[in-house]
Amino acid sequence: MDVNEQNTADMADTPFMPLAISDADFFRLTKFIQQHFGIDLSKKRHLISGRLSYSIKTLGYSGFGPFIDHLLQERNPEEMELVLNKLTTNYTFFMREQEHFHFFRNTILPDIIQRHRKDRTLSIWSAGCASGEEPYTISMYLMDYLGSEARNWDARVLATDISQHALDKAKEGRYNLPDTIPSAWKSRYFKADGTDGYYLVAPQIRNNVIFRTFNLMEPIRFRLKFDLIFCRNVMIYFNQETKDALVGRFCDATVPGGYLLIGHSETLGKNPGYRYLAPATFQKW
Ligand SMILES: C[S@@+](CC[C@H](N)C(=O)[O-])C[C@H]1O[C@@H](n2cnc3c(N)ncnc32)[C@H](O)[C@@H]1O
Repeated sequence: MDVNEQNTADMADTPFMPLAISDADFFRLTKFIQQHFGIDLSKKRHLISGRLSYSIKTLGYSGFGPFIDHLLQERNPEEMELVLNKLTTNYTFFMREQEHFHFFRNTILPDIIQRHRKDRTLSIWSAGCASGEEPYTISMYLMDYLGSEARNWDARVLATDISQHALDKAKEGRYNLPDTIPSAWKSRYFKADGTDGYYLVAPQIRNNVIFRTFNLMEPIRFRLKFDLIFCRNVMIYFNQETKDALVGRFCDATVPGGYLLIGHSETLGKNPGYRYLAPATFQKW
């Protein structure tokens, strides 16, 4: 298991002996997930049985077969949500891939703020935001950069994911903070919550992020085109065809001169809509 596959969901299921899954059941479940949510789990048999066995038993199914029959036939929203909560990998942390945030502060922000000096509206999307650390980091950089001018700008960050479990955690905004957060930010943008070492994201940062459920396999129809899209460590789970189609949709949903940031271990493929600027950093022509 690579580090990206660590999930809180794993912990809940580990004490339980995983159920066996037949080749046929494994194939139809992975095909369904790939077609509807883009995630390629065709080499993740242990992950699937490890993460789903306990829930399948708890729901009263005798095994994977009857559970998958019901899931595919009924498309019951609760079971669908459970599968997404368990099978998505929501690993993330504050200030992940800091090079991006330096580039954001030093290059992207001055550029998009200059372009929007009249309408004072920025449009930034954290696509695949997991438990919220990425959009909150973006929001902290924004507040830091805009300073007292922030109140004159609409710089809200759209943050979307398909995992309800991850989004609930994101909306709660309660974290055990890593040492990488500067102490000035810790006191400015967080408030200690209780005595267990947890902190709550301050209202000015929390209210600047709008969380929504959104499946990246769907057409992108948000109100504004984006100045900047962060889609980092999400497409790593998609096959090339799914990735190319999504990057095409991102490009259509971005203003000319807007930016796309992907994870540093990911590649964009050949998309003529973007030019390379820096590692994992692209700009629409
Ligand atoms: C590893 S996390 C990345 C979090 C953050 N972007 C980062 O780099 O730290 C990947 C996230 O992508 C989400 N995801 C996977 N497939 C998705 C899809 N089809 N639509 C929306 N979100 C998806 C998962 O639920 C998960 O929370």
